[in-house]
Amino acid sequence: MKITMFESYEEMSQQAAERVAAHIAEHPDTLLCFAAGETPMGMFRILAAMQEDGRIDLSQARFAGLDEWVGLGPNDTGSCIQVMHDAFYRPANIPLEHIHVFDGLAADLTEECQKMENWITACGGIGMTVLGIGMNGHIGFNEPDVPVQNGCIVCDLDDTTKAVSIKYFGQPLPVRQGISIGLGSLIQAREVVLLANGARKSEIVHATVHGPVSNRVPSTLFRDHLCTTLLLDREAAIQIQKE
Ligand code: F6R
Repeated sequence: MKITMFESYEEMSQQAAERVAAHIAEHPDTLLCFAAGETPMGMFRILAAMQEDGRIDLSQARFAGLDEWVGLGPNDTGSCIQVMHDAFYRPANIPLEHIHVFDGLAADLTEECQKMENWITACGGIGMTVLGIGMNGHIGFNEPDVPVQNGCIVCDLDDTTKAVSIKYFGQPLPVRQGISIGLGSLIQAREVVLLANGARKSEIVHATVHGPVSNRVPSTLFRDHLCTTLLLDREAAIQIQKE
């Protein structure tokens, strides 16, 4: 894993967007998998602007939604699908038929997993994924101690994730599970970018870089992956810089 630090969130986001642009220039019909959440919002704004003024051409790319809260759908504030449509798919004019997401409202979650796996296979695997790191080191909804497996998983949410979820919903919601592309499939992506910003992430960034490699902290599993780059702003890097 390569680590690059930036003075500001804006610079980190710019670098993430430029990496996506470079990947697209080489593989126009790639499959991209982006996390929702607060961390990639700057990158989404920059990518939508690049698409608007022609610096990037996302017209042939395909998209796989990384994860979803079980029980939430597109009309629920804070659902991953709603966040992704508002922040990225719509502003970047991505055709709906190029996007496959989990339906968090589906009665049969095993079937949802299978449908996502079929989409990933049909698109030739994940070309590039841009991921956020949860406060507990989760990646997507691969929570601490999740089995490292290919394909997709339904995972019970950790208490930290339940507590943090209020920031997306604006109110406490009784979310208990998440559905997510599994760690095995993400690690097999041709290119992985992990993003973290802000002082509140500095502790988990330290664990990601220096802690034991274990599914106890899923983000550590990317450390030995040569195609992974960790992009940080100055505040998220504070604790690793003390080493
Ligand atoms: C969201 C997702 C999560 C977030 C992580 C960080 O789709 O996959 O794993 O990336 O919880 O969230 P933020 O960016 O809100 O700090």
